[in-house]
Amino acid sequence: MLSEELALNGGPKTRETSFPSVGNSSGRDIGDEELALLTEVIRSGALGRHGGTMVPQFEKEYAEHAGVKHCLAVTSGTAALHTAVGALECNPGDEIITTTITDMGTIIAILQQNHIPVFCDVDRRTLNLDPSKLEALITDRTRAIIVVHLFGQASSMDAVMEIAKKHDLYVIEDSAQAHGAKWDGKDVGTIGDLGCFSLQQSKQITSGDGGIVISNNDELALNARNFHDKFYDRSGENRGVLRLGVNYRMTELQGAVALAQTRKLGSILGRRRTTGELLTSYLNEVDGINPPWVHGKALHSYWIYALTIDEGVLGCTTAEFAQAVQAEGLPWGTGYAGGIPICMYPAIRDHKAYGDSNFPWSAGRDVQYVEEDYPETAWAQANTFVFSWNEGITESDVKDMAKGFRKVADHFRAKA
Ligand SMILES: Cc1ncc(COP(=O)(O)O)c(C=O)c1O
Repeated sequence: MLSEELALNGGPKTRETSFPSVGNSSGRDIGDEELALLTEVIRSGALGRHGGTMVPQFEKEYAEHAGVKHCLAVTSGTAALHTAVGALECNPGDEIITTTITDMGTIIAILQQNHIPVFCDVDRRTLNLDPSKLEALITDRTRAIIVVHLFGQASSMDAVMEIAKKHDLYVIEDSAQAHGAKWDGKDVGTIGDLGCFSLQQSKQITSGDGGIVISNNDELALNARNFHDKFYDRSGENRGVLRLGVNYRMTELQGAVALAQTRKLGSILGRRRTTGELLTSYLNEVDGINPPWVHGKALHSYWIYALTIDEGVLGCTTAEFAQAVQAEGLPWGTGYAGGIPICMYPAIRDHKAYGDSNFPWSAGRDVQYVEEDYPETAWAQANTFVFSWNEGITESDVKDMAKGFRKVADHFRAKA
């Protein structure tokens, strides 16, 4: 059977109109509920977290949603991670292991506390840190692991926790992309010592910017709370400022929106999962396309839908396939976060965190970053197609995506 002419070669486009976007109301569930709470804040005249009601209520309801004892609202996901690292009270030059595929916020948190980031290659099936490569990276300066649940899929937490326990390391779960994702029935962020989330515009729930730290550990949770609030002790004991902190206090305006969004989280996740899984069911039928591989213990929360292609079956390169798919009106991209291991960004590779001081690397071991140490990351960055999933995507949008992918795959297979 002759395959349909590709849009790239002058054939009809699969999709003429744009898809719902996380960047605006087409793909977001933001409206009257947020407006009502925001109006309450404005009318109250109390816009700051101290003396306000929205931020504490948001913290209470988010903690209930995640099933965790303590929840702290902060100003961004980066702030959440910095606060979590600050709560550990480690020393300059101590090492924290994390993954090669993440947002810069993960690394900023490590460097801002003057620790040295050490990078673990990923498992190409999930793009999450590969726990089988973790132990080789542990030294006598290692204090913690920051595990990232990339795109909304939980990392392999059993293996990570076992290694952390064996070596007496803290675990911070960077769940910035993974509100509502689960590992073995537990919400991500509740398995390690501290969990961090982002409320930035593209996340499953948003307050424009914002962040959350959760924990079941009383001491770490108190440390985090003090750290984010200039390390003032608000307990009434008036012990003075015990350590260096920051001001990452969330405003009541962000709190109001975050609270309304938290109340919708269940329904938002339901919609994202239904359409994400529907696309997977269609793509499972297309030879040469691999939908996301989801671990048996993981429940995906679809921040990004990521797939790979089998170049051998399709007889084309990923770049050729991407070009053809984009021409069909499907705006899928490759090369998440710059398309390189994050430690190859000049600021990290060249040890340029603070002027030309070489600090904090100068305070510890001589840690160098070499691209060849991360072969799976290079493969994943070159071969993964990504699309920012959102709650506005409909069954008909999914059908168009599946149709476009099938058309392009059929075309290349017919030529192969
Ligand atoms: C894995 C990861 N960590 C940290 C962050 C930082 O969050 P924020 O942008 O809210 O500071 C992000 C944001 O995209 C992220 O995806």
